[in-house]
Amino acid sequence: MAESISPMNGGSGTYSYARNSTWQRKGALIVEDAIKEAVMESLDLPKVLCDSNNTFVVADLGCSVGPNTFYAMDTIIEAVQRKCNNNSSLEFQVAFNDRIGNDFNTLFASLPEHGRNRNYFAAAVPGSFYGRLFPSSSIQIAYSSASLNWLSKVPEGLTVEGSPVWNAAKIHYSGAPDAVARAYEDQLEEDMEVFFRCRAREIAARGLMLFNMAVVPSRDVQHRMASMFTFIESILIDMVNEGVLAQERVDSFNIPIVFPCVDQVRRLIEKNKCFEIVKMEKVEIAGKRDSKISVMHIRAGLEGTLSHHFGSETVEQIFERAIQQQHNLKFNQIDISSTGIFVVLRRN
Ligand SMILES: C[S@@+](CC[C@H](N)C(=O)[O-])C[C@H]1O[C@@H](n2cnc3c(N)ncnc32)[C@H](O)[C@@H]1O
Repeated sequence: MAESISPMNGGSGTYSYARNSTWQRKGALIVEDAIKEAVMESLDLPKVLCDSNNTFVVADLGCSVGPNTFYAMDTIIEAVQRKCNNNSSLEFQVAFNDRIGNDFNTLFASLPEHGRNRNYFAAAVPGSFYGRLFPSSSIQIAYSSASLNWLSKVPEGLTVEGSPVWNAAKIHYSGAPDAVARAYEDQLEEDMEVFFRCRAREIAARGLMLFNMAVVPSRDVQHRMASMFTFIESILIDMVNEGVLAQERVDSFNIPIVFPCVDQVRRLIEKNKCFEIVKMEKVEIAGKRDSKISVMHIRAGLEGTLSHHFGSETVEQIFERAIQQQHNLKFNQIDISSTGIFVVLRRN
């Protein structure tokens, strides 16, 4: 059911992810210093390069389109260069990974010019990171930002009438019965197990895995970001009540995104046994969220997934209503902080 998930909006138009991803950019900016510190203090350069032919490979898992990935890759590469005192014989390659539907054309068209503003070779690696992407021990640093909240698929049973986890009239686990939340957790567990097993094969010994993702402090807390799902859900329910959308279309739709709790992430990493947890720190993204910008961000991230299920005409209506009802968006116009974690893992 991988087709239940669509990539972020491509291109560079009004609704593109490239132009509507400043939230994610803020999250990545906050951890810039922690990335530099991780490279400086935790990367074992001689060991990680021993079978590499002097090529240092960085992978961005779930890179999407737009400047965020370029900023992050520059930060990592500059930190490695600093660590090796600008040893000129070291060559860098960045593997930009995302699912096959990602707009790699726009990504590569906006790539800075090699030699002038970019000091690495670039490669596209299409495919799901919930599977093998690279040859064994070929990656020195793997990085992932705001991507691991996406599950590989909608958990089983959510759209099946009569199933114990049938999530009728809801599109997410926020506000849903506990069994639905557990189905999401089980899927996360399964996906993370595959993710760490694959990365353990691909990351060279003493190499690093750096990632940030949105989390909740404990299982009983709802992530503030989940309010965007209840917002979209209420629009869909209005459309059903007005007879412009069939109830069955809403009953059979769920968004495969989770906000796990910190302990769960820790447990899933430890379960794998191939990585040492070097750092796991809280990230708070504080600031005012303009309601129109919030709707644009939601559109850039979810339009593809919504269109796939409801069709593009319905999606136009959903977002027209979203703009009209922007005041209902719970994180609208108030100082909010959204919680995430930044994690540094070292391959044993
Ligand atoms: C919110 S965007 C983050 C993009 C970028 N890392 C940033 O910080 O702006 C999440 C990205 O993860 C990608 N993604 C989700 N699941 C994935 C998977 N299983 N394999 C590869 N990429 C995935 C999505 O396609 C999307 O581009």
